Amino acid sequence: MTTTIRRATTADAPSIAEVFIASRATMTYLPKLHTAEDTRQHFAQVVAGEETWVAERDGKVVGFAVIDGGWLHHLYVVPSRFNTGTGSKLFDQATKVHPQGFQFWAFQQNAGARRFYERHGCALMKLTDGEDNEEKLPDALYVWPAPGTAT
Ligand SMILES: CC(C)(COP(=O)(O)OP(=O)(O)OC[C@H]1O[C@@H](n2cnc3c(N)ncnc32)[C@H](O)[C@@H]1OP(=O)(O)O)[C@@H](O)C(=O)NCCC(=O)NCCS
Repeated sequence: MTTTIRRATTADAPSIAEVFIASRATMTYLPKLHTAEDTRQHFAQVVAGEETWVAERDGKVVGFAVIDGGWLHHLYVVPSRFNTGTGSKLFDQATKVHPQGFQFWAFQQNAGARRFYERHGCALMKLTDGEDNEEKLPDALYVWPAPGTAT
């Protein structure tokens, strides 16, 4: 059984929303701002309008990435597949299809994700107090590739 990466279709939106809900539930420092139903509606719109990639294993969506307009908006893996290389496969796909690079935000408290991104050649550009994000939590702006590195 292998995990494969493919472009999402609108039919994947409900599975993508469930991966997001389960994955975000592990980020216990986040305030709960949206209902599951709001999240499902949100991802129906995202998948219809933005470049979305899914990781699929045994016919099931186990992770996804949304990258659009120079921003990696989402990278989430289902908790049962954390630490299995699924996030790396999705990240590698993003770099392959967007070799010109992209930016993204991570919460400062998300030490695991920050380690993951730094290991994948991203550079920290800025730390904020979170005033401008929905959760009002300090975040970190990253860029890939790190300036001055060849791709
Ligand atoms: C971050 C994430 C996408 C990485 O995908 P993955 O398939 O677990 O990662 P890989 O197996 O390719 O690489 C393992 C690395 O991922 C990171 N990681 C693993 N589990 C994690 C978790 N629960 N939360 C944050 N980072 C995690 C760690 O850096 C880990 O390496 P290390 O602990 O040995 O240093 C995934 O763990 C995840 O969805 N986490 C929760 C949601 C999240 O933080 N998304 C990123 C938002 S900016």
